Amino acid sequence: MAAPNNGGIMEGSSSSDTGVIVLDSVTGDVKRPQFGTRFLKDPRQVFQHNAWDNVEWTEEQEAAAKKKVLENGQPLPPEKQEEYDSRANEYWNEFYTIHENRFFKDRHWLFTEFPELAPQCSLNHESHPEVSGTGDVQQETLDQEHCRDVAALPHTDRDFPGSSAKYRILEVGCGVGNTVFPILKTNNDPGLFVYCCDFSNTAVELVKTNPEYDPERCFAFVHDFSDLEANYPVPDGTLDVVVLIFVLSALHPNKMHTSISRLARLLKPGGVMLLRDYGRYDMAQLRFKKGRCLSENFYVRGDGTRVYFFTQDELHELFKNAGLEKVQNLVDRRLQVNRGKQLTMYRVWIQCKYRRALFSHQKEAT
Ligand SMILES: C[S@@+](CC[C@H](N)C(=O)[O-])C[C@H]1O[C@@H](n2cnc3c(N)ncnc32)[C@H](O)[C@@H]1O
Repeated sequence: MAAPNNGGIMEGSSSSDTGVIVLDSVTGDVKRPQFGTRFLKDPRQVFQHNAWDNVEWTEEQEAAAKKKVLENGQPLPPEKQEEYDSRANEYWNEFYTIHENRFFKDRHWLFTEFPELAPQCSLNHESHPEVSGTGDVQQETLDQEHCRDVAALPHTDRDFPGSSAKYRILEVGCGVGNTVFPILKTNNDPGLFVYCCDFSNTAVELVKTNPEYDPERCFAFVHDFSDLEANYPVPDGTLDVVVLIFVLSALHPNKMHTSISRLARLLKPGGVMLLRDYGRYDMAQLRFKKGRCLSENFYVRGDGTRVYFFTQDELHELFKNAGLEKVQNLVDRRLQVNRGKQLTMYRVWIQCKYRRALFSHQKEAT
């Protein structure tokens, strides 16, 4: 959906809800299959549902998207680029001053796609790793092994928020807490501690003043994750999960490698980095008009916030260079439909899980 005064589109409530409901065989709870299972077989039926999963693009469609991106790809002058970079957090502050916590909605797909956020609830999740990508078929086994391995690791003695926790999650670019609060609500593990940061102090203030914010289980702080000099409130090697949801795309592409490498150092051996973000030729990219491009596949919206559109290979390189191993790297191509206006919207999201190898723990421990 389009943000008011926005040249682009951001992920809000509309992201990836397919309406497919499945009951958990053990608990009877409602769960949602990964990436959904509603496939469009007959194009004449396109307006019969609000969304279709794993949509194949034709060669012509791909070529038309490429052409459009090239046509509108003339970059803005360097001084404008510099301004958007140096004032990036101010633009996001303005965004949250206007929208407060009304823009991004809680993500219902979180625990289906990322069971690592609530591992004790995840053993029966449906997995469709074959969808459009290079997913690891043994993912579920790995998740379970990971939980056991991480639990067996020694914890640091240093005192820091959540230092006595057994399972630590950090969300980077948390906004107003649309991921953090669902985690706190869903993951009832008494050993859980959740950290969350954002470089917008307006957003962090909204998290801290939310009635669901519990300082016994959560620590929110202002932090620019592209600033390599800035300290984190936890020592390196102490996090089980780092999660980035539509956040890396907001960073200047030149800063992505170093920022991901810095975050990777915070992970315990065996810890995972989870990402969901915009994919190349997503509808939001194709809607950018001339005069909004900063560099290849990187744009500025009407409100000054920026967005990059990734390929799977680019993300793989970023994580691999940070020393992480691939667990999953998938593209989620969804066709969203506005039945009232008879509009079709082709969304492209990429989802990644990359793990810090366990053997580096053995090195550290000796
Ligand atoms: C598209 S919003 C997503 C917010 C949230 N993850 C969600 O899914 O609701 C991107 C967020 O990243 C934050 N952000 C952008 N660049 C950042 C940086 N360098 N360091 C920390 N946060 C950043 C913005 O302030 C904003 O809250």
